[in-house]
Amino acid sequence: MNFLPDDIENYANNHTEAEPQVLQSLYRETWQKIIMPRMLSGHLQGRLLSIFSKMMQPKRILEIGAYTGYSAICFAEGLHPKGRIDTVEINEELNSIQDKYWELSGLKDRIQRFNGKALEVIPTLEDSYDMVFIDADKENYLEYYELILPKVRPGGLILIDNVLWTGKVTEEIKGHDPETKALKALNELIQEDDRVSNILLPVRDGIMMAMKK
Ligand SMILES: C[S@@+](CC[C@H](N)C(=O)[O-])C[C@H]1O[C@@H](n2cnc3c(N)ncnc32)[C@H](O)[C@@H]1O
Repeated sequence: MNFLPDDIENYANNHTEAEPQVLQSLYRETWQKIIMPRMLSGHLQGRLLSIFSKMMQPKRILEIGAYTGYSAICFAEGLHPKGRIDTVEINEELNSIQDKYWELSGLKDRIQRFNGKALEVIPTLEDSYDMVFIDADKENYLEYYELILPKVRPGGLILIDNVLWTGKVTEEIKGHDPETKALKALNELIQEDDRVSNILLPVRDGIMMAMKK
C-alpha cells in the first residue's frame, strides 16, 4: 500500500531501522500465500509499533486483528520482561502461519492468541492494558474503542490503524459506505473525547494515537 510518492516512501524505508529477517520472511510468505497481503503492517509501520512498545515496555498489550502475526511480533519486541500480548483474530486458518513465525521470532511464549469475534472476546478479557492496537473490521471500531478504553490504564496508549482510509475520511460519503462512516465517526469522537489526548499520525493509512488521561 503506497500512500506517499515512491521516492519518499523508499527514502523513509532506507532511513528506518532494517526490518528483522524473520519479519522479512513473514512479509514474503504472506504475499506469496495469503489473501489480502496489503493488510500486513510492513517495514515502516512495523518499526514504529516496535519503537512505541520499546519506549513503553508494556506488561500487557491487546491487539485486535492479528492477520499473519506481523504486528504482534513488532509489539512483542518491546514487552517488559514479564509482559504478554493478547491478540484477537477471527480467522483460525491463519493460526499455522502465525505459529510458525512467532516460534521463529523467539517470542511465541509472549503472545496469547484468542480466536473469535473481537466483540465477543473483548468483554471476557480481564487484564488492564498498557497498550492497545485496533486493526480489524472497521465497522466496529467505535464499539471496540468504547469496550477497550475502560480496560486501559491511565497513561496507556490506544493505537488505531487505517483511520485515514486512503483519504476517504476527508470526503463526503458516497452511497453505502459503512466503513468510511464508522471511521469518520470514530475520528470525530476521539477528537472531542476528554478522556484521552490524541494525535492522528499520517503514517501509511493513518494511525490514531490516543493516550488515556
Ligand atoms: C488488517 S488485518 C490485521 C493486520 C495485522 N495487525 C498486521 O499489522 O500485520 C485485520 C485482521 O482482523 C481480522 N478480523 C476481521 N474481523 C474481525 C473480528 N470481528 N474479530 C476479530 N478479528 C477480526 C481479519 O481476519 C484480519 O486478519
